[in-house]
Amino acid sequence: MYQKLIRSSIMVLFAAILLFGFWEMVGVDVSAGKRLADNHCGVCHDLTNNKLHEKGPYLWGVVNRQAGSVGFNYSDAFRNRVSSTPFVWDEAHLDEFLKAPNEFLTGTRMTQTTNKHALAFSGITDRANRKNLIAYLKTLH
Ligand code: HEC
Repeated sequence: MYQKLIRSSIMVLFAAILLFGFWEMVGVDVSAGKRLADNHCGVCHDLTNNKLHEKGPYLWGVVNRQAGSVGFNYSDAFRNRVSSTPFVWDEAHLDEFLKAPNEFLTGTRMTQTTNKHALAFSGITDRANRKNLIAYLKTLH
């Protein structure tokens, strides 16, 4: 009886792990990511390979790009951060930044409404949304 309970608990645990792994692999929706990008990023960023700086730097090829490397007129906060601790926009950094830009990079202009920016971006709290968005950003190359 006791053994049976342990055995079935282990099986439930295994099933949960498998399901979670499966979700991690297939639970990405690039077209949902594109919609998010069009709605939440396109207002300030060029998402095409025209590579134009708008309110923010162009995002073409941003995944695995060196942060602060495309000659945009970055804020002092941004410049200071990438010169003191340079990093690359890999998925982990993008995820952290997009979750809470101002926590990741305090003072970034991306979250500010001043400076002629009518809109501001405060972050995407939903993990699955960020994942879809980053999956879409990966296609921009
Ligand atoms: C309100 C305008 C605005 C919105 C909306 C916005 N951004 Fe930004 N973004 C900026 C600005 C301005 C910068 C430059 C930051 C600085 O200089 O502090 C920036 C910088 C970035 C960078 C750094 C790029 C580099 O060259 O290192 C990334 C990555 C980025 N944004 C991604 C996004 C994504 C993805 C979205 C949509 C979820 C988004 N941004 C939404 C204005 C915006």
